[in-house]
Amino acid sequence: MALKLVIIGGGSSYTPEIIEGIIKRYDSFPVTELVLVDIKEGEEKLQIIGNLARRMIEKSSKPIQLTWTLDRKEALKNADFVSTQIRVGRLDARAKDERIPLRHGFIGQETNGAGGVLKAFRTIPVLMEIANDVHAICPDAWMINFTNPAGIVTEALLKYAAHKKIIGVCNIPYNMRHSVAEILHVAPDDVRIEFVGMNHFVFGQKVFVKGIDRIDEVLEKLIDSDGLDYSPANIVSLGWSKTFIESTRLLPNPYHQYYFQTRDVLEKDLAAYEANGTRAEVVQQLEESLFELYKDPELREKPKELEERGGAFYSDVACSLMDSIYNNKQDIQTVNIRNNGAISDLPDDAVVEINCVITKDGPKPISVGSLPLSVKGIIQQMKAFEELVIRAAMTGDYHDAYLALVMNPLMADEKRSKIVLDELLEAHKHYLPQFK
Ligand code: G6P
Repeated sequence: MALKLVIIGGGSSYTPEIIEGIIKRYDSFPVTELVLVDIKEGEEKLQIIGNLARRMIEKSSKPIQLTWTLDRKEALKNADFVSTQIRVGRLDARAKDERIPLRHGFIGQETNGAGGVLKAFRTIPVLMEIANDVHAICPDAWMINFTNPAGIVTEALLKYAAHKKIIGVCNIPYNMRHSVAEILHVAPDDVRIEFVGMNHFVFGQKVFVKGIDRIDEVLEKLIDSDGLDYSPANIVSLGWSKTFIESTRLLPNPYHQYYFQTRDVLEKDLAAYEANGTRAEVVQQLEESLFELYKDPELREKPKELEERGGAFYSDVACSLMDSIYNNKQDIQTVNIRNNGAISDLPDDAVVEINCVITKDGPKPISVGSLPLSVKGIIQQMKAFEELVIRAAMTGDYHDAYLALVMNPLMADEKRSKIVLDELLEAHKHYLPQFK
């Protein structure tokens, strides 16, 4: 039976991961046709990735027919799964998202604060177009979105795109589960963290190992900080204080440092920026050496160096999800999906990052009831902020954009929010047609 997967943003340096994931799962998830798609500006990278993917597939001897193209619409014909991993404006735009807020004394980060807002503004219209193409050309396909800010983008699509079979994914819950498994000396598959919140703002409130909640042990290790560090390569772990952990009794994710250790992170980021440039600039160099490696005709596997990227292991998340949908596995995975009452304090149409039973008809969220009081306020504020971002991205209205920025807890400065917004809108104007 034919099984076609289309990867939009196929020229990404991360693609060898997903190729490896597909090859590894071929027996249960037998992709027969794989198409890598990119845009004209990414043609050279697409070519290099295409050739490496071809060598990896040849080495595996799996009968996967691989092609790469700039023609998205043609590629989408008869697709069963479409994964989206794009970066509108590429790393140059990310560097501006990081640098401009930092210059004004705010966190400069690709998915948080002002940078995350502008990334959403650039990305939502482009993904909307892709989702509408998917709907017109391959209406039965599942769209798996990795594109950041993944939760916000997925919510925008589920609210406004014609296509509804859309799931957002991220490697943070995966990283947390694997690190917890390591410190408890158990298999990752035996660990189930009960997550509450949104993408890059998710907390673990229980850690089940074979049905028994062991969160207390995990929190102990987190206080030690040398015992548990699940930060991806892009975030420096500053550790958590005993008081914070003992008071909240929640497992924070690495991005929470931006909100609860803002001054310390800012200090660190400014020092790192002065020494090596922003993360985007570090990644640009890393990409250069990765692509040099990828060009080697002898290379037939994903190189270890790719693990220096923050999104390492994302492919396991995507491939496991597609495998479970395809086989109606009904296992539990953490994805970004419409809340539908699973968290009673958030709107039904809000996208949340939550454990779901993965069926052939998509993920079914597992209800967790209400939010813990300690973080209820900030989660609701962040969700309202996300709604403002989506509204501004859709309308292109200046006041909506300003509201999105000023209501973000990392900004919260009425005069400087305008200064930062104006600079960012100007810097990215080429990618913001909705803001006239
Ligand atoms: C983490 C996040 C991803 C993000 C990545 C950035 O893994 O979960 O959403 O894309 O880091 O990594 P980079 O290597 O690009 O800084």
